[in-house]
Amino acid sequence: MLDQSIQELESRSLARIASAATLEELEAVRVDALGRKGPLAQAGKEMGKLPPEDRARIGKLLNSARQNLEQALESKKRGLDSGSLNARLDAEWLDVTLPAPGPRRGHLHPITRIQRELEDLFASLGFATLDGPEVETEYYNFDALNIPADHPARDMQDTFWLDGGNLLRTHTSPVQVRGMERLGPPLRMIAPGRVFRNESVDASHEHTFYQLEGMMIDRDVSVAHLLYFMKTLLAAIFHREVTVRLRPGYFPFVEPGFELDIQCLICGGSGCPVCKQSGWVELLPCGLVNPNVLRMSGIDPAEWNGFAFGLGLTRLVMMRYAIDDIRHLQGGDLRFLEQF
Ligand code: DAH
Repeated sequence: MLDQSIQELESRSLARIASAATLEELEAVRVDALGRKGPLAQAGKEMGKLPPEDRARIGKLLNSARQNLEQALESKKRGLDSGSLNARLDAEWLDVTLPAPGPRRGHLHPITRIQRELEDLFASLGFATLDGPEVETEYYNFDALNIPADHPARDMQDTFWLDGGNLLRTHTSPVQVRGMERLGPPLRMIAPGRVFRNESVDASHEHTFYQLEGMMIDRDVSVAHLLYFMKTLLAAIFHREVTVRLRPGYFPFVEPGFELDIQCLICGGSGCPVCKQSGWVELLPCGLVNPNVLRMSGIDPAEWNGFAFGLGLTRLVMMRYAIDDIRHLQGGDLRFLEQF
């Protein structure tokens, strides 16, 4: 009777082992058949109660059943192990002969793009692109532009002063002076670059922003020349008619001076944070170069005159792309930059 149930258990367990699909299933079979509370262990404990003539036979039977099952478990386990290894190799397969994907490509910042567009435009009009230092002297940033020390215009621009009396340039206008000194008249130049102001940051103010300065010195330059170039400039930037207005504006380095405003392209003139609810954006201060400025740079105002302008490049980019907060531009957030 016992012989039969041992054999049955053995063959049932062997069948389960054969059909086990995972290591977990296999382990369950092992616990059921060979575990300390399993039927084989139980039968082993009860050997002592058997009549002596049966003991040896049953003992042998139990041992061989245990051995067979252990062997079957072991070889099945090896099979499953290598099966899961194969599955892993399949999942991790890769073709090392494929070309590498290469680095992720970036693109030019919108300010750089517009700056280069304008450099090309002005190059086609005969203007050289000049560069100047961001750390400037007081002379180039103020004095040479007809802004003396006690002049209220110095308060208009909150300056970052550096140790030793130098400063971070508050505008690109000092490059006018450097251009006049180096190249002399006649002169057509632009100077794009970063400028710095010590002011609190909000949707339309940054401590660091971009301007594009322009200057033309020649004989008999008039406001008509100035307007011609400004209109050409705006048409090239916006690829459409923009509404402009010209107001008198005061800058010590030009006389007469103007503020050229454009109607806000973000809100169409109805008022928004960028135009401070006014519907207009100051974009292009300009004027005819003050004779004092020419004289200080060694140019004779009796023979030469000219116009100058200081385009707010950052603000222009905001208008062009309808960006309603200046802080996005230098925030470094790729989710913003990837839209361009
Ligand atoms: N430099 C002035 C500023 O940043 C802007 C400016 C005004 C530049 C008039 C000019 C100009 O060249 O003619 O506020």
